[in-house]
Amino acid sequence: MDKKIQAMVVFGTRPEAIKMAPLVLELKRHNRLEPLVCVTGQHREMLDQVLALFGIVPDFDLNIMQSGQTLTEITARSLTGLEKVFNQARPDIVYVHGDTTTTFAGALAAFYGQIPLAHVEAGLRTGQKYAPYPEELNRKLTGALTDLHFAPTASAKKNLLAENVPEAQIFVTGNTVIDALRHTVRPDYAFSRPELNGLPSEKRLLLVEVHRRENLGAPLEAICRGLRRVAAENPDVLMVFPVHRNPAVREPVNRHLAGLERVLLIEPLDVADFHNLMQKSTLIFTDSGGVQEEAPSLGVPVLVLRDVTERPEAVAAGTVALVGSAADRLVETAANLLRDQAAYAKMANAINPYGDGRAAERIVAATNWYFAKSGARPEDYSVN
Ligand code: UD1
Ligand code: UDP
Repeated sequence: MDKKIQAMVVFGTRPEAIKMAPLVLELKRHNRLEPLVCVTGQHREMLDQVLALFGIVPDFDLNIMQSGQTLTEITARSLTGLEKVFNQARPDIVYVHGDTTTTFAGALAAFYGQIPLAHVEAGLRTGQKYAPYPEELNRKLTGALTDLHFAPTASAKKNLLAENVPEAQIFVTGNTVIDALRHTVRPDYAFSRPELNGLPSEKRLLLVEVHRRENLGAPLEAICRGLRRVAAENPDVLMVFPVHRNPAVREPVNRHLAGLERVLLIEPLDVADFHNLMQKSTLIFTDSGGVQEEAPSLGVPVLVLRDVTERPEAVAAGTVALVGSAADRLVETAANLLRDQAAYAKMANAINPYGDGRAAERIVAATNWYFAKSGARPEDYSVN
């Protein structure tokens, strides 16, 4: 038998793990491919939660996380570690995901090693250098180093074409986060966190997830003040907020929201708990990218606590609203949706602009096609 293609999947943070897990599982199903997993450990606990859920044991773990690391430190330590791993394992292809510092370091290390690079979730853009920061430039720089661009949507492909990426290198696959969602959401789901099984059914659930670097400082303070008012002014809600591990997030969140009536601050949830809690929610408040993609397919309206988004599809469809970080706007938008049933119903449409659950399958098909250099090119994903 021919030598197997060594396919090295690199990730380091929670969202990358959630979105790469379906790819790792799919690669394992194909005889010609041998998946190798390298984690930088940019996140530790939040990454390990995802690995455990999907039963993935990394072949390499750089374990780089330290409290309060700068972007330069994360990049430098990932790059040095990845060079050694790539020299040792000599992969035939490297996959990175999205827009984190791990992503960019993985892309650069693959380039230095002259290893073909595949970018999953390619082509998202806001067009603004510092929004989101540093993600917009991480994904642009990664794109410049990429051989196979796996764009989740047609509009992401359009962004790449506008930057003169050759069309032959772009595959529209859908987003692997929808594949992950298919694994996790169940009607009869029992939460692993006991406190979530006993939530009062008469309360409307408001779910919060905020962590973005560009929101740290004054915007996060304003968001917390807004959330505090939403909980205070709406007696029939329960706000559940799994708080990101970043101390720069934890400190203001605890200062503004700990101990309040109708606010439950909890540790980050494993992704199955989080997805199933999303499904039970009336409204979601977030600056997270992944949550903006997941919620539309669950039919849950999202208030995005940012001024711009690289995920315009659900905004166009009306299920996601950009509200920024000003407290007044957040409070007014939430109050209106909680009061006005027609306005709420208009936003609570289940739509699937981000995928059909078969993105990993398409990525693997494209990989096989790329190495076989023959046969039919896999078909692009399109929304029907
Ligand atoms: C990172 C990514 C961001 C992504 C986000 C998803 C970069 C620069 N940022 O941001 O694109 O949206 O992940 O969550 O790549 N920490 C822990 N335990 C954990 C995870 C984090 O203690 O499991 C703490 C550490 O002290 C760490 C801090 O959180 O220093 C910040 O983590 P970092 O990866 O630098 O940035 P994020 O804001 O998480
Ligand atoms: N998520 C999770 N547990 C939580 C909060 C979020 O598993 O307590 C999941 C969420 O469903 C989504 C992903 O984490 O798939 C998003 O990660 P994050 O918000 O950290 O990063 P982003 O998507 O903004 O890059």
